[in-house]
Amino acid sequence: MAGSDKIDVQHMDAVQMLPPAPVMLVSVGDKEGKERNIITVGLFNLFSLKPPILGIAVMTSRQSYKLLEENDDFVINVPGDDMLDAVITCGTKSGKKTDKFAEAKLTPVPGKKVKSPAIKEALMNIECRKLESFEKGDHTWYLAKIVHTDATTDYDRSNALLYWDGEFRTAGSVLKKVEQ
Ligand SMILES: Cc1cc2nc3c(=O)[nH]c(=O)nc-3n(C[C@H](O)[C@H](O)[C@H](O)COP(=O)(O)O)c2cc1C
Repeated sequence: MAGSDKIDVQHMDAVQMLPPAPVMLVSVGDKEGKERNIITVGLFNLFSLKPPILGIAVMTSRQSYKLLEENDDFVINVPGDDMLDAVITCGTKSGKKTDKFAEAKLTPVPGKKVKSPAIKEALMNIECRKLESFEKGDHTWYLAKIVHTDATTDYDRSNALLYWDGEFRTAGSVLKKVEQ
């Protein structure tokens, strides 16, 4: 097993060296589609299992921050590896200037239990209602409960995109499956 020889690592370098984690497309907006947007989010976390509470973190400078403040809900869309270009577009262009649904060639579909639109092409759409938000450092966390979820009939998590430190990837092979 590796791990006997170690060197000091700067704090930020350690953060950049963390393993990859899910990257999500978060869609938010009103029902009429007058104001709607998509943001690529790497800072995503599961805060509670029972009940399931999910969290996303967004910087105040984002257009999505404004929409998340104005709306009660949002949709966490799980992108597949075939959506890499769209994930990059939604993570590099701002809704201040761009209609990202059109630019990233993504199709808005009405949320079933929320006003925010979902993304048709995603592997899974998790409709969330905001519970609370708080600032932590340079991001604002939005914690939310799940109110509805749709997943593709052939959903396979190994096709979901992971990201960190500039690298996009999918998960590797299953090493072992334990009963839970
Ligand atoms: C892979 C990736 C992950 C990102 N993760 C986050 C994140 O967790 N929070 C955030 O505020 N911005 C994140 N960004 C940056 C935003 O997606 C980007 O600034 C986007 O253009 C903001 O769009 P908006 O102004 O339309 O909201 C990420 C970008 C990429 C490419």
